[in-house]
Amino acid sequence: MEEELMQIKNSAVSMIIEATDQKELEEIKLQFLGRSGKLTSLFKEITKVPIERRREVGQLANDVKNIIEETLRLAQDKVSDQESQSRKESIDVTAPGIKPPIGHIHPMTQVLYDVVDIFKKIGFQVADGPEIESDYYNFEALNIAKDHPARDTQQTLYLDTRNSKINPGEIILRTQTSAMQGRVMEKVKPPVRVIVPGKNFRYEQVDASHGFEFWQVEGFMVDENVRLTDLFGTIDYVLKKLMGESTKLKFATTNFPFVEPGVDTYIECTVCKGKARLPDGQGCSFCKHSGWSEIMPAGMIHPNVLKAVGYDSQKVSGFAFAIGLSRLVTLRYQMDDLRLLTNPDLRILNQF
Ligand code: DAH
Repeated sequence: MEEELMQIKNSAVSMIIEATDQKELEEIKLQFLGRSGKLTSLFKEITKVPIERRREVGQLANDVKNIIEETLRLAQDKVSDQESQSRKESIDVTAPGIKPPIGHIHPMTQVLYDVVDIFKKIGFQVADGPEIESDYYNFEALNIAKDHPARDTQQTLYLDTRNSKINPGEIILRTQTSAMQGRVMEKVKPPVRVIVPGKNFRYEQVDASHGFEFWQVEGFMVDENVRLTDLFGTIDYVLKKLMGESTKLKFATTNFPFVEPGVDTYIECTVCKGKARLPDGQGCSFCKHSGWSEIMPAGMIHPNVLKAVGYDSQKVSGFAFAIGLSRLVTLRYQMDDLRLLTNPDLRILNQF
């Protein structure tokens, strides 16, 4: 009996050591410890052992059972460790990938890229200038003297110069990208063809059509014999490229100190298509019931501006214009509120 018990122990332990997976171990367990397993059957025989040795044999049988159980437990742990390790290391190349979230270009940036591309094709270069600007470039070089009433329309934000050597009122947040006219033309001799995209700042009450900061693309061209018709042709070309070939434009006279004559450009309202009314008979609030949206002030550069940069205003002439970029974006996408352009809510941005 003792011999049989030792044999069972030895063969069980060596089988357990050689087993490589849980299934095999489960079978070994059944084979030895199951209801009709080898060890279980031997336990039943213990009663046949002479009484004086029964205790001893019973003890041995228990020891064998404990050894087999313990060896099994250790082997099961080891095998399950190995299995989870190999699961970690193996890569299922057929598993579907996880799509990383990809954003897209903001509508403002998209329209800016389009504007820049169109102007580059017709020979314009792109310039960049400071948002903190001097009173000189923002106003004086543009024929807007210190006491000029036009300053009142551009609610200017002044920088605090108290702890510096700069005179009060000399440094401002630029109110118009036109400020770059002087900076560029001082450095470059005609012919000049430049656009300046950039942010401007004014102390404005914020509402659906006004922001305290807004984007413009200023543009200007100076050469010999540049005429008003060149300005009209350029604006017509650019706006049709931007808004579609069927876009209708109209021009009206206006006044800015740095142009003479000054011109306002309107495009047919993209919402009511010039009808000033919506299909349901309601007035179109997008164009304030006029059928037209103002989009691009412009004009022939005033001789005083040319003189301020050292150009000979008898020999050269030029035009300038400013595209209200935020306005252009809201017109293109028919948004009725400028503030949507600075709203980071993805439910809005995902619509473009
Ligand atoms: N800088 C003007 C403004 O922001 C807009 C403007 C008008 C620019 C006429 C021009 C121009 O270049 O010719 O109010």
